[in-house]
Formats: sequence, C-alpha cells, structure tokens
Amino acid sequence: MLSSIWVISALLATTMAAPTQTYSSQSAEPLTETEALSSYFEALVSKVQAAKGSGQGPSCDLGSAVLPVASPTALPPPSAGLTLKHVAIGRGTQNYTCGTDGTAAPTAVGAMATLYNASCVAAAYPDVLAMLPRVALQFNLTGTNQATLSPSNLQISGHHFFANLTTPFFNLDTATMNLGTAPSAKNNTVPAPADAPVGQYGVGFGAVPWLKLLTIDGATGNLEEIYRVNTAGGSPPKTCAGMPSAFEVQYSAEYWFFQGS
Ligand SMILES: *[C@@H]1O[C@H](CO)[C@@H](O)[C@H](O)[C@H]1NC(C)=O
Ligand SMILES: *[C@@H]1O[C@H](CO)[C@@H](O)[C@H](O)[C@H]1NC(C)=O
Ligand SMILES: *[C@@H]1O[C@H](CO)[C@@H](O)[C@H](O)[C@H]1NC(C)=O
Ligand SMILES: *[C@@H]1O[C@H](CO)[C@@H](O)[C@H](O)[C@H]1NC(C)=O
Ligand SMILES: *[C@@H]1O[C@H](CO)[C@@H](O)[C@H](O)[C@H]1NC(C)=O
Repeated sequence: MLSSIWVISALLATTMAAPTQTYSSQSAEPLTETEALSSYFEALVSKVQAAKGSGQGPSCDLGSAVLPVASPTALPPPSAGLTLKHVAIGRGTQNYTCGTDGTAAPTAVGAMATLYNASCVAAAYPDVLAMLPRVALQFNLTGTNQATLSPSNLQISGHHFFANLTTPFFNLDTATMNLGTAPSAKNNTVPAPADAPVGQYGVGFGAVPWLKLLTIDGATGNLEEIYRVNTAGGSPPKTCAGMPSAFEVQYSAEYWFFQGS
C-alpha cells in the first residue's frame, strides 16, 4: 500500500545540496533556474501537507496518468489498444560530432541517459512530474548507474543508449524491475514548446524535440511505443564553429512507455 508520504519521500532528496556556485557565475538567467528549483520544492511541501491532511494515499494507477501534449504542434497519440507501462525521467547527454567545416550543423550521433522510475509521480502528481526534467537537468549524475535521481530519490529503472546510429535503445531490465528491452525507430517529432529549458543553468541551445518512437523487432516486455516529452536542454549549437570533433550536451526528459497486450 503506497502512501502519499511515501511518494513525497521518494521525491525529496536525502541531501538537497544544489550546485549553487554555478548559478551566479555561469547562468544567463540565474533566477529562472533558481526559481524552478524553489517552486519544485514548494510544490513538494504542499503535497506533503495535503497528504498529511487527507490521510489518504494517492493513486499510483498508471491508468490515470495523462501523456503531456506538445504545443503548438502535438505528436500523434499512442495507438489504440496500448496501455501505459512505465514513466521514467531520463538524465544524460545527447552526443554530437563536427567536421572541419565550421558552417556545417553538428551531427547527432546518439545519446546516453539513465532512467528513473517516475510512474507514481506521473499518476499522482503530474504537475510535479512536469517540473522534474527542468530540475534534474541542473544536477549532474555521478555515473550511469547512479541509484537515485538527484535531487529526488526516484529509483533507477533502466538505461537509454543507441544500439547504432539510427537505433535508440531502452533497457528497462534492472536488478529490481524487469519491464523489457526495446530497440526503436523514430516515428514522429515535434519541436519542444518555446518555454522549454534551453540548457543547464539557463544557458544552452534549446530543448531537444519531443519524439514518438515505435519499437522494432527484438523488443521484449510487450513494449510498443515510447514518447520523449517535456525535454530540457540537449540541443547543439546551430553550427560547428569553434566546436570540438565530438561533444556532449546535457539533457533530461520524460520517457513514457506503452505496451501492447
Ligand atoms: C555538470 O557537467 C557539465 C558538463 O560536464 C559541466 O559543464 C558542469 O560544470 C557540471 N556541473 C557541476 C555542478 O558540476
Ligand atoms: C556519448 O557520450 C558518452 C560519454 O562520453 C559515451 O560513453 C557514449 O558512448 C557516447 N554515445 C554515443 C552514442 O556516442
Ligand atoms: C515504480 O515505483 C513505484 C513506487 O515504488 C512502484 O509502485 C512501481 O511498481 C514501480 N515500477 C514501475 C514499473 O513503475
Ligand atoms: C541497428 O540496430 C538494430 C537493433 O539491434 C538492428 O535491427 C539494425 O539492423 C541495426 N542497423 C544497422 C545499420 O546496423
Ligand atoms: C508513424 O506511425 C504511423 C502509425 O503507426 C504510420 O502510419 C506512419 O507511417 C509512421 N510514420 C513514420 C515516419 O514512421
């Protein structure tokens, strides 16, 4: 039986040490990110108080979770008959390469992210969920197997990487959860909303597009469709001018996994 307090304690960090030194020295919009963090914690505090007051547990039922819709252009909805299996926050990097032509656009060469189980947050506290990529972007992982997502205590639920240049791959099999593995292919993409976080500490080249991916042969766990939404950061500069031959851009996003029957 899951209580509200349980979900909130999963969101609150054991240590709330934020990388404050960077806000004043690097940020073009220092207040934006500091305000994002404080509204996140304020939202959590109000949830804790509401939960204590009601004495009732929240719904952890994924059937009540609603996939965010991009504006002004929406992605196609999940195919009929699919059900939501898992919601994760991904935190990692988008990787790019550049040649010698400084006027050329960087080439996307994949991504690497660690996924954290946010299913109950999606079901019970969608407003808090929507803040998580923006907040998580400000905290670097110590490694790809970091057990919890700072500054929350959401638990690791898998890894995202590229099997090859055109195949995003999701491995949702961990020591505690076996939700499946999925090579996938892009089905649709729309730009992130104009107010999406542009990068770490408010500095960067924009949020990567929202995506709809379809799983391809070899997927397990009935995984069929995967959405990347509420993206934060991850986009490269427009051109390769001054960029190294290979570089990474920090990002975070929500990933929604839909399964067939
Ligand atoms: C996080 O990682 C990025 C990329 O390596 C780096 O630029 C930034 O300074 C790091 N932030 C902190 C607080 O360590
Ligand atoms: C992206 O960068 C990470 C960190 O350097 C690296 O481990 C990973 O292999 C790179 N992924 C791709 C697809 O190039
Ligand atoms: C995610 O975490 C919640 C809370 O612990 C749990 O109820 C749920 O079963 C976990 N797994 C998935 C697949 O979402
Ligand atoms: C990329 O990986 C996927 C999944 O393993 C595979 O189906 C596909 O054939 C590979 N493509 C190339 C060009 O190697
Ligand atoms: C996207 O998926 C729909 C339905 O599954 C399909 O009709 C369409 O051809 C796909 N488009 C691409 C670009 O894969």
